[in-house]
Amino acid sequence: MSKKRVLTGITTTGTPHLGNYVGAIRPAIQASRKQDAEAFYFLADLHAIIKCHQPELIRQSSREVAATWLALGLDTDKAVFYRQSDVPEITELSWILSCMAAKGLMNRAHAYKAAVAKNQEDGEDPDFGVSMGLYSYPVLMAADILMFNATDVPVGKDQIQHVEMARDIAGRFNHNFSEVFVLPEAKIDDSVAVLQGLDGRKMSKSYNNTIPLFIPEKQLRKHINKIKTNLLEPGEPKDPDDSTVFQIWQAFADEEKTEWMREQFKQGIAWGEAKKQLFELVNEELAPARERYNELMANTAEIEEILQAGAEKARAVSSAMLLNIRDAIGIGRM
Ligand code: TRP
Repeated sequence: MSKKRVLTGITTTGTPHLGNYVGAIRPAIQASRKQDAEAFYFLADLHAIIKCHQPELIRQSSREVAATWLALGLDTDKAVFYRQSDVPEITELSWILSCMAAKGLMNRAHAYKAAVAKNQEDGEDPDFGVSMGLYSYPVLMAADILMFNATDVPVGKDQIQHVEMARDIAGRFNHNFSEVFVLPEAKIDDSVAVLQGLDGRKMSKSYNNTIPLFIPEKQLRKHINKIKTNLLEPGEPKDPDDSTVFQIWQAFADEEKTEWMREQFKQGIAWGEAKKQLFELVNEELAPARERYNELMANTAEIEEILQAGAEKARAVSSAMLLNIRDAIGIGRM
């Protein structure tokens, strides 16, 4: 059996939070350690400029995302870790694929459809504020994936459609030209938690309810204290399955500790005490990486060097692949 190739991108438009950690970063780093897989992880900064036109925010987010993955122990000797914009072959492939992909397919993309629906609701022109980049977002994502012959693409549910479009585009290309691309599959890991945020909804930058991953200890404690609870008094039994505090606890605790906290809830642990316990558990897991994170953020030249080495490895693959693609469609070398 040939090796799996796992690939995923992280859009650089924000500060990594606990939800990203539990739902994506922690499992991805674990997957990269497996012997039967090769991992390709990258900063999707060309996707970031679709929705964010503030250079400083993008730059800062790129630093934070890279420092986060490195601090959490991604082994960049084993995994290929790079910045999308350092691999120009991807943008070339994106153009080639946009000449092969049906416009009708892009019309069905959720992100685009949502923008149009919102405009209609607001009485605007349907395409108000829709850039060509937003419209062809799935094509760029297909290029990211197909360039490296990824077999497994771990993503959130909102991205499944995009991976399926990549698969569709690859299948047509293979059929019309030659078998150049591997057909990728979206991988949704149901065992990882979708973390709740401070207000009990899904933790998400767009809800402004996140707990940033590497804030200083004091602030972490403050954020955890802000998690929404109910008015039950100490001594009154509480329902763990209806509690964000318990839900986050579960994402950090082993089975034994989870059962222990479940019992504490039944026995009426005070909210203040439960939050104190939660802070200690989360902090214990994050503290060593936080230190490394702060070091890296203070020395971005080190991050840059690692990304450059990653780009070199990525380009060894992408430039060979692009030659095959160009040959298949009859452009470039005679
Ligand atoms: N669009 C993805 C997201 O917002 C990020 C991404 C870009 C990606 N390119 C990718 C994910 C390729 C997987 C594969 O989450």
